[in-house]
Amino acid sequence: MSTRLENLAAPEPDGSAAGIWPTTAQRLPSGELAIGGVSTARLAREFGTPLYVVDEEDMRRRARAWKEAMDQAFADLAGGNAFYAGKAFLCGAVARWMADEGLFIDTCSEAELRTALAVGIPGERIGLHGNNKSRAEIELALDAAVAHLVVDSLAELAQVEAIAAERGTTAKVMLRVTTGVHAGGHEYIATAHEDQKFGLSIASGAARRAIEETLAADHLRLIGLHSHIGSQILSREAFTTAARAVLALRATAVRELGCAIPEIDFGGGYAVRYTVLDDVPPAVFDYAEALAATVRADAAATGIPAPLVSVEPGRSIAAPAGITLYTVGTIKSVALENGTRRYVSVDGGMSDNIRPALYGADYTATLASRVPAADGVRTRVVGKHCESGDIVVHDVSLSADLGPGDLVAVPVTGAYGRSMASNYNLLPRPGVVAVRDGEARWVLRPESISDLLELDVEASGA
Ligand code: LLP
Repeated sequence: MSTRLENLAAPEPDGSAAGIWPTTAQRLPSGELAIGGVSTARLAREFGTPLYVVDEEDMRRRARAWKEAMDQAFADLAGGNAFYAGKAFLCGAVARWMADEGLFIDTCSEAELRTALAVGIPGERIGLHGNNKSRAEIELALDAAVAHLVVDSLAELAQVEAIAAERGTTAKVMLRVTTGVHAGGHEYIATAHEDQKFGLSIASGAARRAIEETLAADHLRLIGLHSHIGSQILSREAFTTAARAVLALRATAVRELGCAIPEIDFGGGYAVRYTVLDDVPPAVFDYAEALAATVRADAAATGIPAPLVSVEPGRSIAAPAGITLYTVGTIKSVALENGTRRYVSVDGGMSDNIRPALYGADYTATLASRVPAADGVRTRVVGKHCESGDIVVHDVSLSADLGPGDLVAVPVTGAYGRSMASNYNLLPRPGVVAVRDGEARWVLRPESISDLLELDVEASGA
């Protein structure tokens, strides 16, 4: 049957097997960190800092791993697909890479949908999500004949039916159901418990009612059920428990309503390692196989043909493929009860990575521009924003001789970094450079101060 895929652990640039750097990361003989064959000093010189850098080869490999895992794990069932969750990080180049590697694209806004369409991804390879889709989003999705609209509520079901009727078309609908499984790294990113905004509850009967209403509607086609239980989930049991609940709902509906529910999407949420202290998450294939085993057992127990299964990984494809490069500015040391802590300020911060402030997320950092010439000291890397919670890395050992102008690289920032960036303190959002085989190019241009001033009705005239 299936062969196990290699675990995508990449070596630390210093040679240790940490598995948190992009696959092509290496230390050059000069001591500089290089990604995709491009030294970070060159990246900083040519593109400036702060800078998001994405390793194209690494991101493609991770996408391919999901495609192969789904193909292999579901080969004896009705098949498996992977949708790349664009919310992690989407631009035209990334949409194209994902499509090249055989993935579909999951979008959740008009601009995400337009980004995918703009680079030629056909509607049938795109999904649309959202708990409060606009009329424009629903219309665009119907006009583009997307693979599925994931409908989040009974109110939205009625709205999609009305818009599809106006346009004389049929909407391909997946119903997002909540299973009661609460999983994930932080309360704000756990999404399948009852007391939150997403989805149709199985326990309350809303999910069953939505199935009945979809079947009864003239302009809706019930493609499948959808479940997304949260993000940064290490436990395969959380996924399989939720999967069993969705499969049970499907079996009941198939038996009692005589309908076919040909697909299930188990959402995203597959974990990555942010630092070497984090647990090693299951390999992509192991997540896929856990879901396949659950689907296989259900088909055997119920006699109902297995559904076509899809998943929506975002972070597990994008996060480890990206790093952020910063330039060191001011430095100070403070006395603590148990020693000292050095504060190293860099030229970005919570505007380019909100995750430490929002979720208490931990990252690590390395001196990227040269070999350290001293032992490490306990360091907190902080940003340039006017908040004490503006932390980039809580606690890391960095060379005692670190000084202004040195480059610091923070790994695993490829997901939910640029996509959640802000203009706090009127900082322009950094651009994203893709590196591959010694070449570097913008895939998302940086904002400039003039871009920001341009939006300002009075300041733009000055
Ligand atoms: N599918 C749906 C319906 C989702 O809501 C999400 C994430 C995904 C897929 C992709 O999840 P992933 O595989 O990337 O975990 N900003 C947070 C994460 C929020 C995720 C929201 N939904 C963070 O930075 O950790």
